[in-house]
Amino acid sequence: MTPIPISAARVLLIIGGGIAAYKSLELIRRLRDQGASVQVVMTASAREFITPLSASTLSGQPVRHDLFSLTDEALIGHIELSRSADLVVVAPATANLLARMTGGLADDLATTLLLATDKRVLVAPAMNVRMWLHPATQRNIDQLKADGVAFVGPDEGPMACGEYGPGRMAEPTAIVEAIEAALARPGDSQDFDGVALSGRHVIVTSGPTYEPIDPVRFIGNRSSGRQGHAIAQAAVGAGAKVTLITGPVAVPDPPGVTVVRVETAREMQAAVEAALPADAFISAAAVADWRVDRVETEKIKKGEYGAPTLHLVENPDILAGVSKKTSQRPSVVIGFAAETEQVVAHAKTKLRRKGCDLIIANSVAKGTTTFGGDSNEVLVISADGIESWPAMTKISVAERIVARLATELAKRP
Ligand code: CTP
Repeated sequence: MTPIPISAARVLLIIGGGIAAYKSLELIRRLRDQGASVQVVMTASAREFITPLSASTLSGQPVRHDLFSLTDEALIGHIELSRSADLVVVAPATANLLARMTGGLADDLATTLLLATDKRVLVAPAMNVRMWLHPATQRNIDQLKADGVAFVGPDEGPMACGEYGPGRMAEPTAIVEAIEAALARPGDSQDFDGVALSGRHVIVTSGPTYEPIDPVRFIGNRSSGRQGHAIAQAAVGAGAKVTLITGPVAVPDPPGVTVVRVETAREMQAAVEAALPADAFISAAAVADWRVDRVETEKIKKGEYGAPTLHLVENPDILAGVSKKTSQRPSVVIGFAAETEQVVAHAKTKLRRKGCDLIIANSVAKGTTTFGGDSNEVLVISADGIESWPAMTKISVAERIVARLATELAKRP
């Protein structure tokens, strides 16, 4: 696919039924100002919030909403409508519309077009914070992302319903930027949650390290690499150049990321040093704290003296090393704290001891599924205080960390 300038783009805009629909009128105006043509389709509930007349006046084209309209179908059939655009944009995308998209339903014109299209789809969700954070919605988002649907937003802030949190539709300017990015980078990452990290270099460590004892045995841990890899993917989605330094893991390489494979803590440290300079360092690896002081060159045999005694020495602390650098310290350094008890107290100590800007703390106590599982419940600890994020998928945690990183970077010169 070749890049298309926004001035020549044909956008099919599907407006769902939410209070944010009024912002879609502003979106139409901005797209038209840039020269794009906009064909609007409204769901039945969208028409409860804004009128088709406003949308057609601004777009300069009749609004479509009826799957069974003989006159509309005679003008341009719904299959053709779904294909004649360069990009399909859903704004606002309600929880219900996302659920119908995930299920592949085609029970009105909007969902039929979404199922029939062969073009890229960019979605700007808008809903109440609880609906956004509900596991069903998060499952749907993950599935849609896996299907190649791109997302912009939602933003965090006060909501029309009086609550506060993520769920506000992205601002029309941010949606226009995401549309431009989607049109300009047709083969690129599917996530256009802005170009918040464009021009930035982010180093991420992920997975466990393996510390050899002899040629066949090692000291390792249960880290799967899912959280670190998801962070690398989210950072690429936000436009960053990403170097992912990973211990041995079974999860696939995220697309668009430079991957450096290592085994031991010392190899990981050397790879991080070699990847500097960077704007940010995110230390998600579960680095083994100790290694044996002398690795046997031959396999240790069971001898007549019983079990061998391993003499351990401490590994370098990669995170503390990067945080305390006097030159080439990345502007933002983010560490993790995996704790089995007294999570806040230990994490606060780590923030201080390791000199990083943020600590993402989670419990790895017995009964939690942090190691190896799909979801994560974290506390974000910084000099500003403690934030508690609800349980969510590791992909969502990664996206929030990346959004937070963009905010932190923007604060620094
Ligand atoms: N870390 C690191 N190098 C090490 C050990 C840890 O870079 N040798 C980083 C991890 O990537 C993580 C943070 O330090 O971002 C905290 O890791 P954690 O295992 O929770 O803490 P430790 O420093 O190992 O402390 P403890 O084992 O006593 O809890």
